[in-house]
Amino acid sequence: MAVEFKAGLKDVIAVNSSICTVDGEAGRLIYRGYDIRDLARQATYEEVVHLLWNGELPTRTQLETISRQLAASRVLDDNVLASMRTYPRTAHPLEALRTAVSVAGMYDPDSRANTDEANKRKAVRLTAQIPVMVGTVNRLRGGQEPVRPRAEGSTAASFLTVMMGKEPSPVAERTMDMILVLHAEHELNASTFAARVSAATFSDLHSDIVAALAALKGPRHGGANEDVLAMLLAIGDPSRAEPFIQRKLDARAKMTHEERALPENRIPGFGHAVYKVDDPRAGVLREMARELSEEAGTLWLFEIATKVYETMHRNTDFPVNVDFFSAVVYHALDIPIDLCTSIFAAARISGWSAHAMEQYHDRLIRPRAHYTGPALRAFVPLADRR
Ligand SMILES: CC(C)(COP(=O)(O)OP(=O)(O)OC[C@H]1O[C@@H](n2cnc3c(N)ncnc32)[C@H](O)[C@@H]1OP(=O)(O)O)[C@@H](O)C(=O)NCCC(=O)NCCS
Repeated sequence: MAVEFKAGLKDVIAVNSSICTVDGEAGRLIYRGYDIRDLARQATYEEVVHLLWNGELPTRTQLETISRQLAASRVLDDNVLASMRTYPRTAHPLEALRTAVSVAGMYDPDSRANTDEANKRKAVRLTAQIPVMVGTVNRLRGGQEPVRPRAEGSTAASFLTVMMGKEPSPVAERTMDMILVLHAEHELNASTFAARVSAATFSDLHSDIVAALAALKGPRHGGANEDVLAMLLAIGDPSRAEPFIQRKLDARAKMTHEERALPENRIPGFGHAVYKVDDPRAGVLREMARELSEEAGTLWLFEIATKVYETMHRNTDFPVNVDFFSAVVYHALDIPIDLCTSIFAAARISGWSAHAMEQYHDRLIRPRAHYTGPALRAFVPLADRR
């Protein structure tokens, strides 16, 4: 039976899930019943990982268990590290990460197992190791030796240490912890859907995550983060923000629909497939961005971002999304611009794996296409074709 066509599956309910919901009208994001604003301010990333995978916030003992498991699983397999040393230094960090996860899948001790227990063990290893892979990519491409992660401490502190080559300050650690919590999960976005489509075929968890990483890479999804920072740096001064945005909006008004669809003709960090009002994560990130850039002496960048935000609000209905103020936070933490999407991945691995593990108990995902090709016609032999 044919079902009504919805371009881009917009607003189509495609799976049952008890992990997360987004209320686009009210601007709410809820992980397993908990508001993201409460989680960001009061829970650590390890608590959120347990919540996403098990449905409840952990007890003290459960928190110790998940924290210990993650810390003990950080060290990369020698073969994975050896393969990472061969990637071109010019590769985009997300491409390197995608390849490293694929390689890790072949060396995983549970590579042939797809039981719930095996998938939980793989989820722990992936969640522990993806931040290490991101840090390792950053070191290797700069010609530096990777930092061997320690089997203790928080994911946030370990991540910053392997990425930046030095122990983070308590403020930087807390900031990264909040970044990880805010980016851990977001319902059925493109990368999560890709992971679920792969899991629904009973592929393996590493393959599901490779599919997710491939979908995350594009500028309509995770890649927007990097475009935000590039735009803010190109604006360069708060006084130039309003005319810059105004010029872009005026130019858009004269473009065709096709031209308007190009990423370079959009304002990165604004617009969302689900939110009709500002993304609730953006409010938390905005506060963080102000405090951190004040401390880092880069308040000018926060001021440019604020002017862009105000100009967009005055002139359009596009809500601000998660990628906008997080770009200012990454800049204040001295994180290279092209690493932003990989940081997103280092957090989202917990949500992706929660979804894949849920999907392994569900059915194949196989929608239909709205066919727009020619009607049935007679075959033309080669000799008669022009
Ligand atoms: C996220 C995004 C892909 C969602 O798109 P969507 O809900 O599918 O909406 P569409 O792409 O169909 O856009 C709807 C209209 O809004 C416009 N629009 C959406 N976001 C816009 C933006 N950031 N800047 C300018 N125009 C935008 C589109 O051009 C389109 O207008 P048109 O039909 O007159 O050409 C889109 O808002 C976008 O490209 N944003 C910028 C990239 C970004 O920040 N991505 C991160 C998302 S978390």
